[in-house]
Amino acid sequence: MHEERKKEGQKLTQETKQNKDVLILAIESSCDETAAAVVKNGREVLSNIISSQIALHTLYGGVVPEIASRKHIEKINQVIEEALSEAEVTLDDIDAIGVTYGPGLVGALLVGVAEAKAISYAKNIPLVGVHHIEGHISANYIENKNLEPPFACLVVSGGHTHLVVVKDYGEYEIVGRTRDDAAGEAFDKVARAIGLGYPGGPKIDRVAKEGNANAIAFPRAKVGDSQYDFSFSGLKSAVLNYINGCNMKGEEIVVEDVAASFQKAVTDVLVDHAMSAVKEFGFQKLAIAGGVASNSALRAAMKAACKKNGVEFYYPSPILCTDNAAMIGAAAYYDYKKGARSDLSLNAVPNLKLGER
Ligand code: KG4
Ligand code: ZN
Repeated sequence: MHEERKKEGQKLTQETKQNKDVLILAIESSCDETAAAVVKNGREVLSNIISSQIALHTLYGGVVPEIASRKHIEKINQVIEEALSEAEVTLDDIDAIGVTYGPGLVGALLVGVAEAKAISYAKNIPLVGVHHIEGHISANYIENKNLEPPFACLVVSGGHTHLVVVKDYGEYEIVGRTRDDAAGEAFDKVARAIGLGYPGGPKIDRVAKEGNANAIAFPRAKVGDSQYDFSFSGLKSAVLNYINGCNMKGEEIVVEDVAASFQKAVTDVLVDHAMSAVKEFGFQKLAIAGGVASNSALRAAMKAACKKNGVEFYYPSPILCTDNAAMIGAAAYYDYKKGARSDLSLNAVPNLKLGER
């Protein structure tokens, strides 16, 4: 009798455990943002703390890896403490720690990974290593509670331009990728060339609002053998050539027009490829993700194209597009539910491929 009651008790505990909310403490330090968040059941953000190093790197015109790592070390404990306190939880309430372990800057990634491993070991909390791009894609789950795979997702960040088929949670197929520069990288390089400085994306976005997007005919790159691949280095060269040409002829460069025409050339290609993929693969849902997904012209153009083609369009708020830890918490939740666990041998993998563990 006593044994039976004990078994009943164990069963109940297990059931309660299964139905209980899952709280993830997420950590992100792959580039120039030190971030921590507490996310409930993959979709509810209890806190999302981001300590940006942008002002520091602006002095150098781009991210300096050594400085990024040092700053992450200085900030990480404080950011995690803030994330826990804003969520009104302690480490004892946390079910798993999700941490970005790649891709990214190795020294920067290592800070988050070492921190996550230390907490996991000290408090005996399961550890889940998360792919940074999987995090960007998962940012869409946070504000779109009804979004479930399968769907297509255009990931456009400083380091990546991928057209991805999200087959299921944690299951991805890359159908298109950039052959050279990432979209965000092109924004940053062109911004530097026209004297806007770092970080280029938000500055071009702002300045382009005052310019004429049809003023200069910049090329829309086609990559011969792949319908969905991208190439932005030719466009970047075209902008540089245009600027040199103006300088040589002593003609004034209208920065607003260059910014608007360049931005239109990028967004035209992104929208065109994404819509072709959605049509060919028969998707009713398209999401965008990554820092460039916060671009106002891209959001507007993609929204209009989706509406025209009867496709449901999903996009995260700008703060969830650029690097943050809430998106890592969302991705970690689905990995955790599938049983993914990392052990203390987890290491930073700077060139980690999507879909690899
Ligand atoms: O996703 P993210 O924060 O970091 C990476 O994983 O790379 O993306 C940063 C990139 C930078 O290249 C930045 O210039 C670009 O996103 N970006 C933008 C905008 N906001 C950020 N690009 C265009 N328009 C924006 N509003
Ligand atoms: Zn990112």
